[in-house]
Amino acid sequence: VVGHDLAGDLPPLVASASTVVVLCDRAVAGYAAVLADALVSAGHRVETSVVEPGERAKSLDAVAGLWDAFAGMRLTRSDAVVAVGGGASTDSVGFAAATWLRGIRVVQVPTTLLGMVDAAIGGKTAINTAAGKNLVGAFHPPAGVLVDLSVLDSLPAALWRDGMAEVVKAGFIGDPAILDLVERNPSGAGSPHGPDTRELVERSIRVKADVVSGDLRESGPREYLNYGHTLAHAIEQVEHFRIPHGQAVSIGLVFAAALGRQCGYLDDGVADRHRQVLTQLGLPTSYPADRFPDLLDAMSIDKKTRGARRRFVVLKGLGMPTVLEDPQPSLLEAAYEEVAAG
Ligand SMILES: NC(=O)c1ccc[n+]([C@@H]2O[C@H](COP(=O)([O-])OP(=O)(O)OC[C@H]3O[C@@H](n4cnc5c(N)ncnc54)[C@H](O)[C@@H]3O)[C@@H](O)[C@H]2O)c1
Repeated sequence: VVGHDLAGDLPPLVASASTVVVLCDRAVAGYAAVLADALVSAGHRVETSVVEPGERAKSLDAVAGLWDAFAGMRLTRSDAVVAVGGGASTDSVGFAAATWLRGIRVVQVPTTLLGMVDAAIGGKTAINTAAGKNLVGAFHPPAGVLVDLSVLDSLPAALWRDGMAEVVKAGFIGDPAILDLVERNPSGAGSPHGPDTRELVERSIRVKADVVSGDLRESGPREYLNYGHTLAHAIEQVEHFRIPHGQAVSIGLVFAAALGRQCGYLDDGVADRHRQVLTQLGLPTSYPADRFPDLLDAMSIDKKTRGARRRFVVLKGLGMPTVLEDPQPSLLEAAYEEVAAG
């Protein structure tokens, strides 16, 4: 459900649950209270609690705390959990719901752009371990996703911009109308208050939902959602996760376009459009030239690789993703020259 002021749309998504637990990121506690009121008015017994903001929610300790809370509330399989927050909260609360009693209903209420168009869509939940990000998790499709655009009013501009990298990705792999909307009004697309926000969000969700509905467990086309992400994950690793994900994805998209061009798949117009659109949104499109050897190493251990091979999603044209397996390092280097700065 996508729209404005959607608290009244939540009760039908948890119909028949006697107890509903609303777990929220502290940053959106006020909004979560409005959702809780709507549930109480609809006759549910409602418990509310706050989860740690950001990645701190994605620890085993945090999830163990949620399991203990569920036990204290005597939560049964016919009850429901509502996760309110950014992708970190929806991942963590989603994982707690996936594992409690081997799975109870969860409704995701994403409150960041990235959560709305990516993390809360598609049923992947996860926490981090000492060995890396998202290593423990479960596929647990939500009973519903409530995308209330009103909650974006408080979102910092930088988080909006970072989320737009995934919106642009959705445009290139599945719905070029997204790119037209950004190009027609870049400053509007650069803020949650632009005239096309709802359409951008809805179209991006549709791209992901269409892909995932045919391949929940990532044995085929779901991999296309990793467009731009092989280099992005390598950059995040090399930067020890101090670079925002959206910025790494933005650079990764320009690299993936260059790789498509180097393979002879992509014409200059589509390849160059990547950098143009991302630059219009204020996202980065280059990375230091001397980091290529480190990135090449990091890409070979990216968890999306199968065996020791490097896999890249590239485009054969707008909206036509395909997988390139184990390209020659010389081809990768040639593509990297297009993003290399300094
Ligand atoms: N499950 C998936 O398929 C999937 C896909 C992509 C990303 N992810 C995960 O998503 C996470 C990143 O999500 P994110 O970018 O939403 O970051 P986040 O959840 O860490 O939130 C970023 C910050 O925004 C604050 N915040 C959230 N909503 C707000 C609002 N409306 N107003 C003001 N502040 C708000 C939070 O408190 C936090 O400090 C990562 O852990 C990533 O692994 C999961």
